[in-house]
Amino acid sequence: MLESNEKPQKLFHSPVLINDHFQNFRSYNVPRAQLVIADIPYNIGKNAYGSNPQWYVDGDNANGQSELAGKEFFDTDKDFKITEFMHFCSKLIKPEPKETGKAGCMIVFCAFEQQFQLIELAKQYGFKNYINLVFRKNFSAQVLKANMRIVGNCEYGVLLYRDKLPKFNNNGKMVMNCIDWDRDTVTSKIHPTQKPVPMLERLIDIFTDRDDVVIDPCAGSGSTLKAAAQRGRKAYGFEIKKNFYRDAIEKVLLNLQPTLF
Ligand SMILES: C[S@@+](CC[C@H](N)C(=O)[O-])C[C@H]1O[C@@H](n2cnc3c(N)ncnc32)[C@H](O)[C@@H]1O
Repeated sequence: MLESNEKPQKLFHSPVLINDHFQNFRSYNVPRAQLVIADIPYNIGKNAYGSNPQWYVDGDNANGQSELAGKEFFDTDKDFKITEFMHFCSKLIKPEPKETGKAGCMIVFCAFEQQFQLIELAKQYGFKNYINLVFRKNFSAQVLKANMRIVGNCEYGVLLYRDKLPKFNNNGKMVMNCIDWDRDTVTSKIHPTQKPVPMLERLIDIFTDRDDVVIDPCAGSGSTLKAAAQRGRKAYGFEIKKNFYRDAIEKVLLNLQPTLF
């Protein structure tokens, strides 16, 4: 407990973003994590913008197609190997502890169809248990189809863990698997599939304690690293694309405000 005249301690760990493939993790001194959060490439190829208004100039099909029409989000998608990702997690999520309520886990954002492959493959790497997650937006990116059929407003993910239940800081409140997708109006938007920092902070608060390690092997904009650092966690990430890496460092991770606990 703090004495009333004592200032709260600043618990801030500078996030570490590495411009390399996560597969090269052994070259870096990355500690084992309590939580891996990964938004893996969805492998939707040249249809990446197919349900996104950016397919057209200014989001309006009357203006004709934009330069993004028929393009992939990342030319790195095809090189992404889900088995290498699982190997990474099996090595870098801390081993199962003796105590209950302390185990590490991973949260993987993925396409709806990828959930089943992830759940099956994870078993081969010791992550035998899962909880499916649905992230509910109050908007849809599929505006072009809005008058033709039901449009999607959800993102999907799976929480994967070994035998023991993961650390779970619910403060006595029920946590449901359909999670609101808070809009992030603060963080610079630098990545086509950028996740909102407030939502990532909520996940990090539930599954880790301050000073725990959080790793994002596909860091993109560095949103997970920002969220983790702002919550007093030690954050590590990998991002192969130089432009995302540079923007993440210059626009997202610089000048982070330490959280006072
Ligand atoms: C879906 S995006 C992640 C977006 C991120 N969640 C955000 O909020 O900004 C996936 C990212 O992983 C990167 N990537 C793909 N394969 C990778 C690998 N083997 N190692 C490191 N990064 C990789 C891609 O360049 C891309 O930026």
